[in-house]
Amino acid sequence: MTSPDLPAELKAALDGKLRGFSRSDAAGRAAAISKTYRDGGGSGTIRSETDALAYALARMPATYAAMTASLNALVEIKPDFAPNSLVDIGAGPGTATWAAAETFPSLQRFTLLDSNDALRTLALDLVADSFRLREASYQRGEARAALANADTADLVVASYMIGEIGDAEQRALAELMWQKTRDTLLVVEPGTPAGYARIIALRAQLITLGAHVAAPCPHDGECPLQPPDWCHFTQRLQRSRAHKQVKGAELPFEDEKFSYVALTRAPVVHRPSRVLAQPVVSKVEVTAKLCTPAGLALTKVPRRAKADYAGARRWRWGDAVAQES
Ligand SMILES: C[S@@+](CC[C@H](N)C(=O)[O-])C[C@H]1O[C@@H](n2cnc3c(N)ncnc32)[C@H](O)[C@@H]1O
Repeated sequence: MTSPDLPAELKAALDGKLRGFSRSDAAGRAAAISKTYRDGGGSGTIRSETDALAYALARMPATYAAMTASLNALVEIKPDFAPNSLVDIGAGPGTATWAAAETFPSLQRFTLLDSNDALRTLALDLVADSFRLREASYQRGEARAALANADTADLVVASYMIGEIGDAEQRALAELMWQKTRDTLLVVEPGTPAGYARIIALRAQLITLGAHVAAPCPHDGECPLQPPDWCHFTQRLQRSRAHKQVKGAELPFEDEKFSYVALTRAPVVHRPSRVLAQPVVSKVEVTAKLCTPAGLALTKVPRRAKADYAGARRWRWGDAVAQES
């Protein structure tokens, strides 16, 4: 399992960039960028080196944590997956590339694509001293045009990206991402109803083009959740001192909510159920909301079923579990 916390090499590179920067300037820029996101805007406001660094300090730890949680879920379903090549679309500061490199020692060829110059420059600075990532190719350009020129890859990822483009563009990009995927496509979005809606639309579109869901769903059928419910998960991550300062936060940790889908070319053999919320454990039973191959289930595991109860007590939101209904 890959840790949700930034790898030491990336932390050191970020700390290096922070030297000589005013934390209060970075905090001010981070607050302005966060407000743009809350108001429905995108990364367009990230223009300068300070903006890029402020964004990375404020958001990279959380997007990295969501990426590693999604990649860990993928690895659990496809333990033999050993990709050689990666394409990271809307790569920004390179968060998803770092997470994929950490998860898959097999990765050798890294291609990052993004239209934002400031984030690209920062990403290249961050990988400059990394043995594995310093040779990464980072192409600047509009996602679809840049991706059209890229080679296919074993693993294609888009992390917190598709929400920044319109619906029609999302559909066109999804199809192109799938064309460029030799094995697995992983798309991660914020764990909001809107983020989930984008994931579920992309999932449905690509299933019609032959994709199979590796995670989180244990089936390729329609999502059984009905609004106002939505499929999302949460990952806890530690906050460094700089992270707390830039976010003006007190707590030493944060919980990042995310939605994701991992789609594969080959049908998936191993399809465990997925825990969709933190289970409730009582002295009588464990009650868990599961997405099973047969649909949604509120499963109760009674204490008298000793071994099953002991196992179910350890279930966590987001886990893949061997339970039919
Ligand atoms: C919220 S950031 C996420 C960055 C990175 N994937 C991460 O997880 O940290 C969204 C990224 O998508 C990029 N992006 C948005 N629309 C784009 C487009 N049409 N073409 C290329 N990149 C785009 C932005 O420049 C930005 O770097």
